[in-house]
Amino acid sequence: MSDLDYTGKTALVVGGSSGIGNGIARSFLDRGAEVHIWGTRATAADYEDEDGSDLSGLHYDQMDVSDFEAIEAYEPPFDSLDILVLSQGTVIYRRGEFEMAGWRKVMDINLNSLMACSQKFHPMLAKSKGSLVIISSTAGFHATKGNPAYNASKTGAVGLTRTLGQAWATDGIRVNGVAPGLVDTKLTKVTTDNPKRLAATEAQIPLQRLGLPEEIAGAVLFLTSPLSSYVVGQTIIVDGGLIL
Ligand SMILES: NC(=O)c1ccc[n+]([C@@H]2O[C@H](COP(=O)([O-])OP(=O)(O)OC[C@H]3O[C@@H](n4cnc5c(N)ncnc54)[C@H](OP(=O)(O)O)[C@@H]3O)[C@@H](O)[C@H]2O)c1
Repeated sequence: MSDLDYTGKTALVVGGSSGIGNGIARSFLDRGAEVHIWGTRATAADYEDEDGSDLSGLHYDQMDVSDFEAIEAYEPPFDSLDILVLSQGTVIYRRGEFEMAGWRKVMDINLNSLMACSQKFHPMLAKSKGSLVIISSTAGFHATKGNPAYNASKTGAVGLTRTLGQAWATDGIRVNGVAPGLVDTKLTKVTTDNPKRLAATEAQIPLQRLGLPEEIAGAVLFLTSPLSSYVVGQTIIVDGGLIL
C-alpha cells in the first residue's frame, strides 16, 4: 500500500470550508480518506459558487472556533479520528488589531482555538495514534507591519506545535505544523486584488509566484503519512523561498 493512500482514515480539517484548508481537505479526499470539515456558515450549500471553496464529497459542520464551550460540547459524527488539521484563521486590517477587541478576536480564532480543538480531539488521536497538523504562517518568523495579533497568534502557533509535539509524542500522537507563505485566498485579497501590490510581492518571492492550496497540502500529506514517522514538533515553511 502507498504511504499516501488514506483509505480507511478519517480526517477533520478545521477551516476546511475555504482556501488552504479546503485544498488540504480535498487532498485527503482524493487519496481515499473520509473527510470532515468545519466552517462558519450554517450549511455546506452556503459555500456554493464561492471562489476557493469546493465542499463536494466533504462532511460539513458549522462551528465558531472562538466559542470554546461549543467545541467542548461538539458531538462528532465519526467514532475515530486519525488526522486533525487546524487551518482556521483570520486577520483584521486598518489597525484593528491594535484595539483590544480586534486583538482578542484574532488571538481567539488563530491561537486559543488551536488549544481548544487539540484538547477536544486528543483522546481520539491518542486512540488512533494519529497526527495533528497546525497551519501557522511565515508571519511566525518575522514582524508583520500593522498586524500585531496575527503575528503574535502565528508565533504562538509555532510554539504550541513544538510544545504539543513534545507533550503528546508519548501518547502516540505526532504534532507538526506547516507555515505557508502567500497563497491566494479570501484572507489575502488585500494583496491579490491590488495588481501593483501583487506584482511587488511576487517579485520578492524566489519562485516569483504565489503558492497554491495544494502545495501547502503536499507538506500536510507528508506530515500525516508514515513518510514522516520520526518528525515531531516541527513547522515546515512552504513559501517559495519568500523568507530566505
Ligand atoms: N493565504 C495565505 O497567504 C496564508 C499565509 C500564511 C498562513 N495562512 C493561514 O492559513 C490558514 C487558512 O487561511 P486561508 O488563507 O485559507 O484563508 P480563508 O480562505 O479565509 O480560510 C480561513 C478558514 O478559517 C475559517 N474560520 C475563520 N474564522 C473562523 C471562526 N471564527 N470559526 C471557525 N472557522 C473560522 C474560515 O471559515 P469560512 O470559510 O466559513 O469563512 C475558513 O475555513 C489560516 O490559519 C491562515 O492564517 C494563510
